[in-house]
Amino acid sequence: MHLLSSLLPSPSSYTHFPLSIDSPPKLFALGLSKDLPPLPLPNLRYPGCKLVGCGSAVPTLQISNDDLSKMVDTNDEWISVRTGIRRRRVLSGRDNLIALGVDASRKALEMAKVDPDDLDLILMCTSTPEDLFGSAPQIQKHLGCKANPLAYDITAACSGFVLGLISAACHIRGGGFRNVLVIGADALSRYVDWTDRGSCILFGDAAGAVLVQACDSEEDGLFGFDLHSDGSGQRHLNASIKEHESNTALDSNGSVLDFPPRKSSYSFIQMNGKEVFRFAVRCVPQSIESALEKAGLPASSIDWLLLHQANQRIIDAVAARLEVPSERVISNLANYGNTSAASIPLALDEAVRSGKVKAGQTIAAAGFGAGLTWGSAIIRWG
Ligand code: UT7
Repeated sequence: MHLLSSLLPSPSSYTHFPLSIDSPPKLFALGLSKDLPPLPLPNLRYPGCKLVGCGSAVPTLQISNDDLSKMVDTNDEWISVRTGIRRRRVLSGRDNLIALGVDASRKALEMAKVDPDDLDLILMCTSTPEDLFGSAPQIQKHLGCKANPLAYDITAACSGFVLGLISAACHIRGGGFRNVLVIGADALSRYVDWTDRGSCILFGDAAGAVLVQACDSEEDGLFGFDLHSDGSGQRHLNASIKEHESNTALDSNGSVLDFPPRKSSYSFIQMNGKEVFRFAVRCVPQSIESALEKAGLPASSIDWLLLHQANQRIIDAVAARLEVPSERVISNLANYGNTSAASIPLALDEAVRSGKVKAGQTIAAAGFGAGLTWGSAIIRWG
């Protein structure tokens, strides 16, 4: 993705780059060897992309801070002062993640006035798929897409949606895709240790979706982005594979066999909250500043700051560093907690439907979390 996006002209340079169907770009002029496999050509007709629809869905079961105080040694005051969270939605027997993703997707398609049959690509950003092999094809099936668009999952925890958005843009700009549905959906409640008061108070389940559509360069709505990973920070936040003992198998000579492998499952979420907090407050403002620089925009051009909804104190610290006043900061984590990859599209959807975010406004969106991964995108809504 990085290679592709670095090879493609930036949105602003498209206006100066004389591309046309009749004169395809000269890839060799970009320094590529003749021996390399061919790269997809930039989308010559529609070099831009814009966000034209959004939707969201949450489970029906609501758990308040008071409810949690009956399960672990905590209280509403501690949780709301330290995190800003008052309640969260959690999957129960009545819902599942695919259904939430489909519900959110239908709303986004309806707003965008795009038929499921006109989708070219579905990206399901989730770290908690209901099928280890991927959830996106199930979304495709339940939406009833007769054309069977390509559908696959992106796993990047709480940064998943931002990565999905940039992937959608790369597919559109570099691969000729027209309508890309980006879904952020997670059910971390399934991996939370409900006896650990240090982490169980944070998380909720939800899905959000955005329709990203190809457009002319003048309408392009992705101004700049910045993405990072640092695997050395994995110890601060993970839900890693756990091997379980199984009956030892012996070969015909009585020696212990390495095969069949032992049964595996994932551990509960392991988190060093303080380290994750420090990482977010340090890296997120830097990432947004870098994306703004690439976009050639000052921080004062941000109409809305839309961060991954993890902790109100993180949101406030990043806003203060970027000098974005609180009335231009989107926050809904009081009602939903940290919904991982869903948090940005969920908050965006609420802000759009309530009339807060209007067409043409500039949003600085940033995700951060396990991996570690983090990244930001400067986008225009509508
Ligand atoms: O998508 C990214 C996901 N992760 C995050 O965003 C996590 C970012 N980190 C945070 O949000 C915060 O670090 C937490 C909310 C997790 C914790 O807040 P904190 O201000 O860093 O608290 P702490 O861990 O330093 O704990 C302070 C005290 C401790 O007691 P002592 O040692 O001072 O007596 C904890 O045992 O608060 C205690 N504590 C609690 N008390 C009541 C920890 N959790 C709770 C709780 N209720 N739920």
